[in-house]
Amino acid sequence: MSTWLRAESFAGRVGLVTGSAGGIGAAVCGALVAAGCTVVGCDLASDDLASDDLASDDLASGIEPAGDIARRIRTDVTVQTDVDAAVEASVEAFGGLDFVVGCAGVVLPGRLAEVTASSWRRSFAVNVDGMIHLARAAYPHLRRSPAPAAIAVASLSGLSAYPAGGGYGPSKAALISMARQLAVEWGPDGIRVNVVVPGPTLTPMLRRAQPVEYRAAQARRAPLGRLADPGEIADAVVYLLSSGARAVTGQVLAVDCGLGQTLLAGPGATS
Ligand SMILES: NC(=O)c1ccc[n+]([C@@H]2O[C@H](COP(=O)([O-])OP(=O)(O)OC[C@H]3O[C@@H](n4cnc5c(N)ncnc54)[C@H](O)[C@@H]3O)[C@@H](O)[C@H]2O)c1
Repeated sequence: MSTWLRAESFAGRVGLVTGSAGGIGAAVCGALVAAGCTVVGCDLASDDLASDDLASDDLASGIEPAGDIARRIRTDVTVQTDVDAAVEASVEAFGGLDFVVGCAGVVLPGRLAEVTASSWRRSFAVNVDGMIHLARAAYPHLRRSPAPAAIAVASLSGLSAYPAGGGYGPSKAALISMARQLAVEWGPDGIRVNVVVPGPTLTPMLRRAQPVEYRAAQARRAPLGRLADPGEIADAVVYLLSSGARAVTGQVLAVDCGLGQTLLAGPGATS
């Protein structure tokens, strides 16, 4: 657990994380469990992919064990009734719901003019509909929590063009807009809504989507000279759920080693 977290007690707080079997989702679950939360993990995949898939190669660090998740529920976030059932099961088992983290996502590559209707639709179904399904299901329960919050995990590609990424960037842009609107609509209920925007992060998704040369080039471009690892995305999620962020809502926090700020950087730039 990060040192700064030791001062914060999440004990007794109950949260639901979608995409919990993925690289970032598993790290988020692990960090929240380590902080004292009761965490329900929801994913299409029933097993913890992260520990198998990530232990092997280019991960520097960052996946914390997610073995202490209180419950795993196989959930398809594209189906409202699936998400409703997961939320209801969590509330029934643990007496309420204090926060949700929407981390489920897919990248379906392709140039926009060539992307199929089903690929486009799938990008939006998982990356956008998944979060609104979660928001709808969770809202009545979050309203009853003393410190409610929601986090959407979007992407740098929702802020900056991601060529040949199919509907990924457009869907993440829509997700960011939706989260900001939720923050405004839910503010009077005391529910904070924020967005974490990972840059390229060393997970199975990145390895599937991009070759090693691309990852190395992005690491060189980033001011910190490297890519983030999933544990660093998880730390940002935990911060935004913590009391330290109690006045923070409607914000978009990039965790990208500075990559998003490099538009005007490069050879020939004067200092
Ligand atoms: N890894 C990166 O470089 C990166 C960069 C920016 C944003 N992100 C975002 O972070 C989030 C997590 O990405 P990751 O790198 O851990 O990817 P990942 O592929 O390891 O994990 C994604 C998880 O979402 C789950 N999922 C997919 N469709 C689902 C559905 N219909 N219902 C329920 N679960 C479903 C998958 O089973 C998987 O476990 C995603 O939203 C992704 O877009 C990742």
